[in-house]
Amino acid sequence: MQNEPMISTENKKKVFVETWGCQMNVADSETMLSMLLAHNYEATDKVEQADLVLLNTCHIREKATHKVLSRLGALRQIAELNPKMKIAVAGCVAQAEGEKLLEKASNIDILLGPGKIQELPYLLLQHETNAKTVSALGCKKDRGHDHEMPQEVNANPLVKPTTTGKHEITRYVNIAQGCDNFCTFCVVPFTRGREVSRPSAEIVAETRSLIADGAREITLLGQNVNSYGHDLVRDFKLPHSDRGPFVDLLEEIVNLPGLDRLRFTTSNPHDFTQPIAELFRRYPKLGRYIHLPVQSGNDEVLERMKRKVTVAEYWERVRWLRDVDPEMALSTDLIVGFPGETAEQFEDTLKLVEAVRYSFIFAFKYSPRKGTAAARFREQVGDAEQARRLAALNELQDRITLELNLGEIGRTREVLSHYKSRKEPDVYYARTEQYRLIRIASKYDLVGKVAQVEIIDANKTALVGRLI
Ligand code: SAH
Ligand code: SF4
Ligand code: F3S
Repeated sequence: MQNEPMISTENKKKVFVETWGCQMNVADSETMLSMLLAHNYEATDKVEQADLVLLNTCHIREKATHKVLSRLGALRQIAELNPKMKIAVAGCVAQAEGEKLLEKASNIDILLGPGKIQELPYLLLQHETNAKTVSALGCKKDRGHDHEMPQEVNANPLVKPTTTGKHEITRYVNIAQGCDNFCTFCVVPFTRGREVSRPSAEIVAETRSLIADGAREITLLGQNVNSYGHDLVRDFKLPHSDRGPFVDLLEEIVNLPGLDRLRFTTSNPHDFTQPIAELFRRYPKLGRYIHLPVQSGNDEVLERMKRKVTVAEYWERVRWLRDVDPEMALSTDLIVGFPGETAEQFEDTLKLVEAVRYSFIFAFKYSPRKGTAAARFREQVGDAEQARRLAALNELQDRITLELNLGEIGRTREVLSHYKSRKEPDVYYARTEQYRLIRIASKYDLVGKVAQVEIIDANKTALVGRLI
């Protein structure tokens, strides 16, 4: 292997990575870690031994900055015993707060926005040379691309790193950055900028190398995956079928050799089309589960959220999916106590949740975010009422989740095992096609294997299966 860089394994530096927020951040952390591994770092899970602590932060709800500052305070004490420790703050808080964060916490060495993660090795070098705080911030603020459409996949391994040395079965691939939707509650268009899709050749190349690294399941990521490529069509006249660039991308990836399952998230219902739903008919490798955030079951609330779909249109999408596969599992995000949400409007959310029968939900109390439209709406709902609504919603969903899981008993399901239990011998964890977590006892190594399993027991959190 002539071209392999000669990197000494001695004196490796240690990096400790901590990730908050969504899967985009998880994927970004993996990318940053793999870049560091290529630069003579190794991962550690002992923060007190780290040469570099990398905090990848989330700004979606209140107290985000506060949380980062209190973590930095704790790190300051740890650093007293480990003076070589450098601290990098990445992610959406870094982007939203910018240099203001440096005034609030003097122990930050590197500040890095989500649009600039590729610059991390360069920033480290810069910091080593002049020992000053360095930063790279900024994201796309306008529609359209800054550059020419890249014609070829960038062959530089530092730009397209994939190996984190963990060889996990399930991996994420980012297909687009940012969001153009400006839902009135949401800070993401401000922290991640406007939507910029990656060229499909780059996505396919990254997916291939993850499969070569041991991945069997790939999840394509974006804030709004269904609108993938709209910007490429607009700016570069990207050729595409009449079913749209996202369908074309999925068809290209689903057939890659070595891939057992393909998933994608997050699906914004606004851009979810019937041709996307129809793909589930053609490709058994597409996991039978979709996260389809609805936010509220009431049209007036949805309107004020600027979600651009009505409850009826949301139902239409649910029906497209369940016509293709009646067992299609769904999950959703919901916000309770959005400004002006009345008790009756909240009841509509309960009714929707009861009727759709989600596998699980992510429910949040509305949290005002500076700079967003809804933060300026009057009639903010009080915390006690928000808490009451949240509890009612979660209680309802807990019952539904349990009923659905108990309904699995006696069924045969195809599962893909992701990992072996660290605590119990001969126990493996897997996901069914419907994304339900399942525990399986097996003498054989199941990790990375697809198996047929009979469901023999269930509770609210997981199923128990027996190999057939
Ligand atoms: N792009 C995705 C959502 C990403 S943010 C989509 O449109 O579906 C993930 C979830 O966080 C949102 O779906 C919403 O339920 C929640 N969320 C975002 N901003 C919030 C806020 N200000 N207060 C409470 N929850 C919020
Ligand atoms: Fe936020 Fe709406 Fe964009 Fe989702 S679609 S990231 S909720 S602005
Ligand atoms: Fe959080 Fe940024 Fe994701 S704000 S939810 S980490 S896009």
